[in-house]
Amino acid sequence: MLILGIETSCDDTAAAVVEDGLVVRSSIVASQDDIHSLYGGIVPELASRRHIEMIIPVVERSLKTAGVAIGDIDGVAVTQGPGLVGSILIGLSFAKSLSYSRGLPLTGVNHIEAHPMAAFLSEAGQGAKVPEFPFVALVVSGGHTTLLYFDSFTSYKVIGQTLDDAAGEAFDKVAKLLGLGYPGGGAIERVARTGEAAKVPLPRPLMSRGSLDFSFSGLKTAVLNVIKGRGALTEIDVSDIAAGFQEAAVDTLVQKAIWSIEATDARSLVLAGGVACNHRLRERLSEAASREGFRLSVPEARFCSDNGAMIAALGYHQIAMGALGNLDMNAIPTWEGF
Ligand code: KG4
Ligand code: ZN
Repeated sequence: MLILGIETSCDDTAAAVVEDGLVVRSSIVASQDDIHSLYGGIVPELASRRHIEMIIPVVERSLKTAGVAIGDIDGVAVTQGPGLVGSILIGLSFAKSLSYSRGLPLTGVNHIEAHPMAAFLSEAGQGAKVPEFPFVALVVSGGHTTLLYFDSFTSYKVIGQTLDDAAGEAFDKVAKLLGLGYPGGGAIERVARTGEAAKVPLPRPLMSRGSLDFSFSGLKTAVLNVIKGRGALTEIDVSDIAAGFQEAAVDTLVQKAIWSIEATDARSLVLAGGVACNHRLRERLSEAASREGFRLSVPEARFCSDNGAMIAALGYHQIAMGALGNLDMNAIPTWEGF
């Protein structure tokens, strides 16, 4: 079954064609970083406008790259939330119109639930270390830091989440404080390579034993206080602070991941979301997996950040079980249903 996946929940316009929830025939992502970096963060109205311009070319390119025509597609999956409502409406209205005009089944996908599906994706011929059910997924992105327990593709529960900022948001805000631009996760990782984390001791919030919730706003404030205390920053200061922050954030994420495995019957962990691109986090989690004896699946970096393939993958399972969406154009999207 070939599913067209459409993702417009934030600042990337993305579409992909995926076969049977596993094989990626194409995955096209049009980034909007050029627009939002001018403002140091995402401007929702500008994001919606760019989605309107990009949605048709991105979908056309996803079909062309996959070597298929719209008549070959068996179903459409689209992000219905959570995210920026204006951005979501563009993808959702487009997907509804396409599915109505072509008589294709449509399903609405929860963006956070879709991120871990990236662990099942590969291009034809490549093998992937797919997770085994039940598994815990640590979804770490610009908008979310959530631990989810999955006992099947379409059945999950939230077992932990951030009480304030998301991990990626903290990376972005600290990068801004250090003058590293937006989005800042990759820049923090780059400068942290030459820094000494031990020179900048920072708090590890919410680390009481067993707690699966996260908090990053205190860590961000602690970084701000370190910066204020130093006056003009040298390049070495910037690297040390970035390294200290990254180590504190990674410590928390790794510890909660270990506790989530201990708290459930899952023996597989999936790392997903844009922050999963971070090599230090990947390295520390993989050491933890060998030490603690759980299976770790980390998707390819291009499927960690927002993409249409993860939406198509979850959409495939939803369509197969008959969970179809409402084509009513006036239905207000919520993340429970539309
Ligand atoms: O999943 P994603 O593409 O979009 C959302 O759903 O939010 O995640 C984007 C987030 C941004 O906050 C970005 O700074 C962060 O992922 N990110 C990273 C790295 N690459 C991207 N954070 C830490 N280290 C990285 N290498
Ligand atoms: Zn995301």
